[in-house]
Amino acid sequence: MTSTDVSPETSPDISPDISAAEALELNPTAPRPPEETRPLVDGRQTHPLYNDQPMKLGLFGTNCSYGLIMSHAETTYRATWEHTLQVARTAEAIGFEALVPIARWRGFGGTTNFNGNCFETYAWAAGLAQATERIGIFATSHLPTMHPIVAAKAATTIDHISGGRFGLNLVMGWFSPEMEMFDGTQREHDERYTFGQEWLDLVLKLWSEEGSFDHHGDFFNCRGVESYPKPHQAPRPILINAGNSKAGVEFSARNVDVNFASLTTFEEMKAYTDTIRGKAREEHQRDIKTMTYGLVVCRDAEKEAKAAFQHVIDKGDWGAAENVMKIAGMQSQSFNEQIKQFQERFIAGWAGFPIVGNPEQVTEQFAQLKENGMEGMIMGMVDYNEEMKYFDAEVMPLLKQAGLRHWAYSLGLPLGDGSADDDVCGRAAAEPVRCARHRRPRGGPGRGHPGLPAARAHPDPRRRRPPRHGAQRRRGQEVHPRLPDLRGRHPAVPSRFASQYRERYGELPSETVRRSAG
Ligand SMILES: Cc1cc2nc3c(=O)[nH]c(=O)nc-3n(C[C@H](O)[C@H](O)[C@H](O)COP(=O)(O)O)c2cc1C
Repeated sequence: MTSTDVSPETSPDISPDISAAEALELNPTAPRPPEETRPLVDGRQTHPLYNDQPMKLGLFGTNCSYGLIMSHAETTYRATWEHTLQVARTAEAIGFEALVPIARWRGFGGTTNFNGNCFETYAWAAGLAQATERIGIFATSHLPTMHPIVAAKAATTIDHISGGRFGLNLVMGWFSPEMEMFDGTQREHDERYTFGQEWLDLVLKLWSEEGSFDHHGDFFNCRGVESYPKPHQAPRPILINAGNSKAGVEFSARNVDVNFASLTTFEEMKAYTDTIRGKAREEHQRDIKTMTYGLVVCRDAEKEAKAAFQHVIDKGDWGAAENVMKIAGMQSQSFNEQIKQFQERFIAGWAGFPIVGNPEQVTEQFAQLKENGMEGMIMGMVDYNEEMKYFDAEVMPLLKQAGLRHWAYSLGLPLGDGSADDDVCGRAAAEPVRCARHRRPRGGPGRGHPGLPAARAHPDPRRRRPPRHGAQRRRGQEVHPRLPDLRGRHPAVPSRFASQYRERYGELPSETVRRSAG
């Protein structure tokens, strides 16, 4: 200790009524600059999950060993930094909106020790935020494992690194063995959400409040609390949560922007999504999006896809699956009833909603998700990096035909730059998203994944080819007869992009024009 250090214990001026910071007159004597005291940019302009793609797409679990499959099925997927980075860049290159990691502190045993080898999610998100340009990056935070002051600051930091593409997945911690790693205890189910509410209220205050404040609650007792700078996104970074129990749904409806749920049937999805949206609107005067997750297995033929899905189960780690089900059955009310029926679902997709089939069938199922209120899906894949390329080539064009994806990112926004493939996936941002914080434009022509073909536009706009669907090329027909034709409702090119589109590609294919406001 130096002669200038003063601790509360040694300072004669400090009483229970006055905080050490006040007693020591640590508060600044001049006003703080606005860039410290306010979020910088409306998150709706910066976070991809706010874009207007009818079906948002993301990846789930690419920070953990075995991702979403408790299985020894063959894959090149590895939970190494190099590989997770490659997966992230491919996902970004094909236009996905989100990367959501799993927060895990120990594995589930069995022969795979499922998810046991994994990256801590805030640090993982920070690395990927720096390494990517456009995709939304999340951290998944077990609220009891991190003090709100540390979490608020870490989230803010990653939000700044990413230029407003960061988001927080708030999880309460259902896996008791890992919660016990922290202080030897696990709270009762609904109390976890009571704790979570106080945790989040404190974080929200840290993200928004100017000046220092005290917080005296049931779980935290803090004096002279403050956090600068504020996040990049205003009013705050995007929040997601996967509470599906009564307490979980209440928490989501009250607090977050997107709720995630896994349900068995489309009918259940419809009822669930209507209920949670209604609850958010009526009881909390706010909107909430609903999304789901699961394993996507797509192959040229249905038989092949089903065989690949079955192979995951045949090579399943039943020991790990049994451990998960025992723990989830005992600890998580939402899983309790379903658990027996979902043994295979745990092995093949962490109990998510499986989407298995040929490209048309996969598209059909995405359309049904949408019909039943699911606005997006974060996926597992047996081999993320390899299968994403197939998904891009074979499924994305059909999703576009079905009106589930459209031609442009919606944030103001870059159309692809006319290469043979970017029309299909929005791979290269010709017009980078400008970010108030970063003077330099983020993204830019030809900044796709180094392993994918560089996108180049023809210098003469009239000679640029209009987008063509991979599936059309493949099958020589306009819309596959088995696909739902949603074009009347969500056609592909919103009219507000029409002039950008014409400039880039020449004439608009008339069937893909959508009249839209704004
Ligand atoms: C998409 C999704 C992601 C989740 N991520 C995690 C996670 O990373 N770590 C974790 O412990 N629980 C995770 N969960 C579990 C949920 O936080 C939650 O506990 C579970 O859905 C049960 O809901 P309930 O808490 O309302 O009973 C996730 C669930 C879903 C659907």
